[in-house]
Amino acid sequence: MKKISLNLKNKNVIITGGNGFLGSQISEALINEKAKVYIIDIKNPKKRTLAKHFKSDITNEEELKKILKFFKSRKIKIDILINNAAIDYPPSKSKGNNLKLESFSNYFWDKDISVSLKGSYLCTKVFGSYMSKFKKGSIINISSDLGIIAPDQRIYKKSGFVKPVTYSVVKHGIIGLTKYTASYWGKKNIRCNAIAPGGIYNKQDSSFVKNINKLIPLGRMAKKNEYNGLILFLCSDLSSYITGSIIVADGGRTTI
Ligand SMILES: NC(=O)c1ccc[n+]([C@@H]2O[C@H](COP(=O)([O-])OP(=O)(O)OC[C@H]3O[C@@H](n4cnc5c(N)ncnc54)[C@H](O)[C@@H]3O)[C@@H](O)[C@H]2O)c1
Repeated sequence: MKKISLNLKNKNVIITGGNGFLGSQISEALINEKAKVYIIDIKNPKKRTLAKHFKSDITNEEELKKILKFFKSRKIKIDILINNAAIDYPPSKSKGNNLKLESFSNYFWDKDISVSLKGSYLCTKVFGSYMSKFKKGSIINISSDLGIIAPDQRIYKKSGFVKPVTYSVVKHGIIGLTKYTASYWGKKNIRCNAIAPGGIYNKQDSSFVKNINKLIPLGRMAKKNEYNGLILFLCSDLSSYITGSIIVADGGRTTI
């Protein structure tokens, strides 16, 4: 019987938002496995990396088509797409008042839906269509534990922060996109799965950390490298019969 292993050597991976907090972590993990990583991000990388960087906006289909041309003209097959970019609202950095539902800005609504949902849909459409021609590929969408449950606003209370409505909407929407894509391209052997990660510790305010830890059976937030194993698994043939799944990795938060 053929031995199946992780083996991501020379696999071509596109990751959106690959210069951000989680994206740079995932990119490094893939580079360590000798994959070829192509980052699409509107921001420049903070430090030097072996990944190729496209400074581009995922909400702009024309820009994505130009990136596709890069792959096509060099006959580079895309093996894996990771839809990771989203507008996030870390509690310590965002102001509370204008994020309340009662006064939520429609500008933020449009922007959040555009980057996090439309951007993931456009990348799936543009790059996924190309991947489907090769009859093999893996698309991984990054949802959140807040794609499964609603935010518990009590944990932000001390800072006056409110997790905005858009975060719930886009993270639940990503799950719909995942199931749709898995079903739509199943016959083309394109697998599509989502991960629903819990919050990652990133020096947040101590009262927030104390509050969130109480909601998590493992009693702590995730370390920034704790999703690498799951992502690498979903990229590889080790997960060849998994598609349309939403894999929750949240220290148990959504079980209680
Ligand atoms: N950090 C967490 O605790 C956590 C927990 C669960 C899920 N997530 C999810 O993980 C993903 C990454 O989160 P993060 O914490 O790394 O956020 P981040 O803000 O550090 O990174 C997001 C990246 O996306 C890029 N980006 C934003 N708009 C873009 C656009 N229009 N075109 C291209 N790139 C764009 C940003 O420049 C940034 O580099 C998000 O989908 C987030 O919802 C994060």
